[in-house]
Amino acid sequence: MRAVIVYESMFGNTHAIADAVGKGLEPMLQVVVVPLAEIGGERLGDADLLVVGGPTHFRGMSRKFTRKWAASTAQKPSNDLVLDHDDQGLGVRDWLASLGRGRTKVAAFDTRFNGPAVLRGRASKAISRKLRKHGFEVVAKPESFFVNLKNHLEPGEEARAHAWGKRLAESVVSSGATDADRPGPPPASKET
Ligand SMILES: Cc1cc2nc3c(=O)[nH]c(=O)nc-3n(C[C@H](O)[C@H](O)[C@H](O)COP(=O)(O)O)c2cc1C
Repeated sequence: MRAVIVYESMFGNTHAIADAVGKGLEPMLQVVVVPLAEIGGERLGDADLLVVGGPTHFRGMSRKFTRKWAASTAQKPSNDLVLDHDDQGLGVRDWLASLGRGRTKVAAFDTRFNGPAVLRGRASKAISRKLRKHGFEVVAKPESFFVNLKNHLEPGEEARAHAWGKRLAESVVSSGATDADRPGPPPASKET
């Protein structure tokens, strides 16, 4: 069985969590971790599990102006942030809007400041909702991984992501049949 993890990351936190989730999935699934900017070359249609992650910006998924904001934040000398990606190109929000219909099992995560989601917001909830609207089968609650106020991952978050990935793999493998095995309408013509 094959899993694809797609992530968007400006400061590298979501990237690090995507890698950790991938390591958690790996013993049970064949895993590809791919940044959104390189998703064009990746086969999604035959994945058994798709995991989508992005940073929380202004309580939700990033937008063009928030990615620019992130880039200029990273460039301030007072910050020790390193840009994982420039502010050009698409974010998860744009990519999801362009996504065709699919039936693959999916799960979403985000990175964000620690604190109640009701105050901080969380991109994963919106990612999950969009994927469900596109017909995908959401198999896990949206999950958040936390950074401190300097935008660095809190201790233990990569280990938590690893454990989350492991649980995800176990549930996907134990649920057995992939969507391709299920009766249903023919796959959408648009490649997902
Ligand atoms: C422009 C901008 C807006 C942000 N807005 C929020 C927010 O509303 N809630 C939150 O919890 N974190 C917020 N954050 C913090 C990011 O979610 C956090 O730094 C995240 O780990 C960044 O992921 P990345 O390193 O993959 O880019 C914001 C960060 C930036 C740069």
